[in-house]
Amino acid sequence: MPTTTSWKLTSLLIFFTFFCCSFSYTFTIINNCPHTIWPGTLSGSGSPPLATTGFRLDTGQSIKLTTVPGWSGRIWARTGCTFDATGVGKCQTGDCGGRLECQGNGAAPPTSLFEITLGAGNGQDFYDVSMVDGYNLPLLALPRGVYGDACNSTGCITDINRGCPKELQLLGGDQNQRVVGCRSACEAFKTDKYCCSGAFANPNTCQPSYYSTIFKKACPRAYSYAFDDGTSTFTCKANEYDIVFCPNSNGMRRPNLAAPPPPIRQPFWKHQQ
Ligand SMILES: *[C@@H]1O[C@H](CO)[C@@H](O)[C@H](O)[C@H]1NC(C)=O
Repeated sequence: MPTTTSWKLTSLLIFFTFFCCSFSYTFTIINNCPHTIWPGTLSGSGSPPLATTGFRLDTGQSIKLTTVPGWSGRIWARTGCTFDATGVGKCQTGDCGGRLECQGNGAAPPTSLFEITLGAGNGQDFYDVSMVDGYNLPLLALPRGVYGDACNSTGCITDINRGCPKELQLLGGDQNQRVVGCRSACEAFKTDKYCCSGAFANPNTCQPSYYSTIFKKACPRAYSYAFDDGTSTFTCKANEYDIVFCPNSNGMRRPNLAAPPPPIRQPFWKHQQ
């Protein structure tokens, strides 16, 4: 019956408007780098895409993206991009299928990744910063909002490109003279040992390597290889996350993530006078 159907639709609409999504989550992506970045977003299977899957963000700009409880996905930043008027082009790092909007394509390694699964209901959020697919930019993930102040931040604020071993370097820039990314050993050598695959596909056989240790020393809170869970996954309940690229540029004060995790409860700019 049409009336019942429309009534059902109306109540569904009311449900979604007032109940379902009134508790929304916000990601604020901040470009603190001295250069333009092109963030990309990728939703996990079963999660709706964010309002944008790829966009340009100039120095000092930020953007807020809201999403729903239970959302899981990744956020990263591309560098050295050129796109034509139709959004077709390429990036030196983090490229996602050669388009401004990633539209379901992931980041080409090496790319630093912020990964998160938001809790539904009273469920906890799980979040991390990962160098498993290599590194391109420093980033900091700060839980914020009503509940976020009690949560630990994570990230990788060291410029790993500077200390990147020659065999892992991705060169770019005008004359291909600049290290624009640092590849993972898996990406560079494609062996089961470095990729935690085949006989090494479990935490007992896949151990930290010479190369993953370089990443871990530089960024103790970030994933340095696939089974680096113990020190790299963070659990909390926040309803806002700030994702800051190049957090320590411009002399901005930031938490000391070079040391093994002490609790960092305050966003760094709250300490600034
Ligand atoms: C933050 O990290 C510290 C040190 O690892 C830990 O003791 C604390 O439980 C963490 N806080 C939360 C909310 O996870």
